[in-house]
Amino acid sequence: MLIKVVREKRKEMESGLVGDERMLFTRFVSGMIRGEISEEEVIDNVVLLVFAAHDTTSFAIAMTFKMLAEHPDCHSLLLQEHDDIMSRRRPGENLTLEDTKKMKYTWQVARESMRLFPPIFGSFRKAIADIEYEGFTIPKGWKILWTTYGTHYNEEYFKDPLTFNPRRFEEPIPPYAYLPFGGGPRICAGNQLAKLNILIFIHYVVTRYNWSLLCPDEQITMDPSPIPFPWNAHQSFSQVILEDNNLRDLSRIIPSKLGFTFYICCPIQYSIFHSIMRLILCWISHLQ
Ligand code: HEM
Repeated sequence: MLIKVVREKRKEMESGLVGDERMLFTRFVSGMIRGEISEEEVIDNVVLLVFAAHDTTSFAIAMTFKMLAEHPDCHSLLLQEHDDIMSRRRPGENLTLEDTKKMKYTWQVARESMRLFPPIFGSFRKAIADIEYEGFTIPKGWKILWTTYGTHYNEEYFKDPLTFNPRRFEEPIPPYAYLPFGGGPRICAGNQLAKLNILIFIHYVVTRYNWSLLCPDEQITMDPSPIPFPWNAHQSFSQVILEDNNLRDLSRIIPSKLGFTFYICCPIQYSIFHSIMRLILCWISHLQ
């Protein structure tokens, strides 16, 4: 399906239909026309972006809600923060960027959830020179896998690492110890967008709905991202029961093929996004 889309776009652009260069897809295809990247690379990047952007964020949101449900004291503090923001807003006024900057505790809660349940467990680096580390040599050219667990669960960096304690982020964290978004020049390109998505999402759920976990005792395992354990036991991972306080947005909770992550979105966004995800998943399984 993507091959078809890429080829059609190329045909359009080659026949003079100028694409919007602000759009990433247009830029990819322009690069392909100029011979800078291959068709395969364009497709790889599109697929990567969809998974990198969508699944990670929904895992983070799902685990944040599970943590909030399991720590009612944190939930109350968080709610207080959002009530304060709401109280300063005029009726009908939209959430602003300034409002999101006030969500300090909420971000601590989300960060702590990502510390315990990192959506991406690690990533690869290639040694571009021989590296000496604690008496070992990593030869040039070797691939290295860094993992979040190496530091996230390490007492040296996070006191009492198995405890859920959002306030630990009030103190500075040593560099490269907290890595849900990776680090260095290849740090997650979407980390600020992810932060906004998470904060805005939490804001609307906690201020508009009374919610609770459908299956409070559910265990989570990492495979390698957080999923229910045993994973086919029931389809309730982070599904929540919402009681609609203010029916402005249509809300839905949909089990996805990739770990029953949850969504609250307008039906159009939902159906477009899920159609794309399903097509990509079919396409990938077809390739395998
Ligand atoms: C909670 C949400 C997210 C998490 C936990 C996350 C995590 C990560 C991690 C661990 C990496 C690898 C970084 C490294 O190797 O050092 C990465 C890379 C990347 N992420 Fe994210 N990500 C999230 C959301 C997003 C979003 C929303 C987008 C785009 C809209 C995005 C786009 C990317 C891209 C393009 C890269 C590759 C960057 C590069 O290699 O230069 N991510 N992400």
